[in-house]
Amino acid sequence: MSRIVYVNGEYLAEEEARISVFDRGFLMADGVYEVTSVLEGKLIDFAAHMVRLRRSLAELDMASPADDAELEAIHRALMARNGVDEGMIYMQVTRGAADRDFAYPENATPSLVMFTQAKPLRDTKAARDGIKVVTVEDIRWGRRDIKTVQLLAPSMCKMAARAEGADDAWMVEDGMVTEGTSNNAYIVTADGALVTRDLSHRILHGITRAAVLRFAAEAQIRVEERAFSVEEALGAREAFATAASSFVCPVVEIDGVVLGDGTPGPMARRLREIYIEESLKAAR
Ligand code: PDD
Repeated sequence: MSRIVYVNGEYLAEEEARISVFDRGFLMADGVYEVTSVLEGKLIDFAAHMVRLRRSLAELDMASPADDAELEAIHRALMARNGVDEGMIYMQVTRGAADRDFAYPENATPSLVMFTQAKPLRDTKAARDGIKVVTVEDIRWGRRDIKTVQLLAPSMCKMAARAEGADDAWMVEDGMVTEGTSNNAYIVTADGALVTRDLSHRILHGITRAAVLRFAAEAQIRVEERAFSVEEALGAREAFATAASSFVCPVVEIDGVVLGDGTPGPMARRLREIYIEESLKAAR
C-alpha cells in the first residue's frame, strides 16, 4: 500500500514525491537526519531528537527548514495519515539544490523530507533471542557525532557482518569498539558495571543511549563511560546495543564467542523493560 510522505511543504503519495537531481543530499550526502520511534501512537523522546537535529545543522552551517513545533506537527500528521501506531518516522534535511560545487552554496533552500515506516518495535525476534555481532574495522569519517546521511561505510560494515552470518557489526578503531552500524554498543563487566563508549566525535550521541544511562543510574547500576576493547567485550558477562529503532537490543554472541548462556542477559532485559515503560510515560 502506498504511503503518504512529506516533501517540502506537501503531503504526497510516495510515487508522486520528487527531489531535484541537484539536491546536495543526493550529490554530496550533504544532509542530516533523525529517526524517531513511535509506540502506542506516541513519539518517543521527540524533544531530544530535535535538540540533536539542531546541533547537526549547526555543525554543518545548514539552514533549518522549519521550527520544532512545525516539525512535530508534520510528524503527527504523517502518523495520522498513514495510521502508524508502532514504527519509525524518518526526517531528513539537506542543504537543498544548487549547481554542483564543493563549496556550500550561499542561498540554497534546505529540503525537508519525512516518511513513516510501520513495523513492530516492541515484540521482535532480536529482542527475544538477542543478536550476533562481529567486529570489523571502523572505516567511517571523523565526525560521527553529526548525524549525516553519509551511511555507505556503516552499510558496508553491516554487509560484511551479514556475509559472516552475523546480524550486525560492532566497529573497531585502534582496538577499541566505537559503536554498532546504527546503534550504540554496551558491555557488562564480570563485576556488574555497565560500560559504553564516552561521547566524542568518534560516535553518534545516541538519544536512546542518554535515556538508558539515566535509567541505569536511577536503578543504581554502576555506569562507566569509556572505551572498551574487543578482548574485553569477548570476556563480558553480557552485551547489548541501543537505538531508536531497536530500543535496548541484547547481543548474545561477539565474533563467534557466546556470552553467558547465549540468551539475552538480565541487565539488557531489565533496561529494555524500564526504557519502554518510562519512555512511554514521558511520551505524547
Ligand atoms: N541510527 N550510532 C549510530 C551510528 C546510529 O546510526 C544510531 C541511530 C545510533 C543510536 O542513536 P539513537 O539512540 O539516537 O537512535 C548510534 C538510526 C536509528 C538509523 O540510522 O536508523
